[in-house]
Amino acid sequence: MIVPALVVALVAVARAEARVPTGSRDAGGARGSSGGARGSSDTLGDARRGRAIVEATRDSLPRHAGNALRCTSCHLDGGTRATASAWYGVARTYPRYRARRGAVETLPQRVNECLTRSLAGVPLAEDSPEMRDIVAWLDSLGRAAPLPRPDTVRLAGRASHGARVYAASCARCHGATGREGGSAPPVWGARSYSIGAGLARQTLLATFVHHNMPYDGAARLTPQQAADVAAWVLSRPRLDHAGKERDWPNGDAPPDVAYPTEGARRAGRPLPPPRPVLPRR
Ligand code: HEC
Ligand code: HEC
Repeated sequence: MIVPALVVALVAVARAEARVPTGSRDAGGARGSSGGARGSSDTLGDARRGRAIVEATRDSLPRHAGNALRCTSCHLDGGTRATASAWYGVARTYPRYRARRGAVETLPQRVNECLTRSLAGVPLAEDSPEMRDIVAWLDSLGRAAPLPRPDTVRLAGRASHGARVYAASCARCHGATGREGGSAPPVWGARSYSIGAGLARQTLLATFVHHNMPYDGAARLTPQQAADVAAWVLSRPRLDHAGKERDWPNGDAPPDVAYPTEGARRAGRPLPPPRPVLPRR
């Protein structure tokens, strides 16, 4: 298959690029003597290195990434694909108020949100060289206005139908059990994203899948099929996220948030049925 082979090749290139400079810094905190490319100004990140980190996240940040994914498992094509949470223009929209936090969030804080939830990992220090590199890559995509968002799939999903869609259209790459992944990253289980991630919301996952999966474009799912497969994927166990009940502290959690929040409870809003979660290490 051409597409997975290409993906593997791209990953290999990104890894080769990322390993030498960032690996040594992640391991020791000190800059290796061979890392001369950074130059003398250490306060500014290096966008090229940032791109390598987001494309080879586990190799670049072995102590911070907590699952089998990389940033660009979801922000496809290095964060440049319009239908997959593209990063164009995003840097200039921060700091901004975010309802999930109930407070203003900076760009490094937003990156750490994805690192701790979507990568089920541990946050980077906000002034670390790795964070500055990631921010520099996001900044380098930041001159234009953010891209318009793709049509949202808001239909309710039926998990039993979704299991059939999964078997027919997803399993050949993501694996029959979804947990281990095949040529593609796992979509549930202990090596996938946590319940606190954006993609653990039915609407966001259905929209992502409708516009981007199957990855090789071999089929085009209808919005209903995308909603159904999202419901199936989200009915499977996935990693927990500590403190998730404090999300949306003002009681304005969107209806597809998968867990009860204290804010929703106080506001007397209906609480979602429990979903299976796995302990986080
Ligand atoms: C499991 C999928 C997934 C992974 C992995 C992931 N993200 Fe995200 N990310 C999302 C989703 C979904 C959103 C929300 C997009 C939206 O608001 O529509 C998001 C939002 C963001 C935003 C804010 C975009 C905006 O418009 O405000 C940034 C910045 C970001 N991610 C960076 C990262 C970085 C850096 C990594 C790796 C450390 C990463 N993400 C890993 C799914 C993911
Ligand atoms: C041809 C192989 C292929 C098929 C078929 C496919 N995917 Fe993917 N999918 C990928 C690859 C590869 C990535 C990661 C892209 C990257 O890392 O650049 C991905 C990423 C994802 C992600 C975000 C990362 C994660 O692991 O959660 C989700 C969710 C996803 N796919 C769901 C689906 C669903 C649902 C289907 C079936 C409708 C499907 N995919 C079909 C190859 C495939």
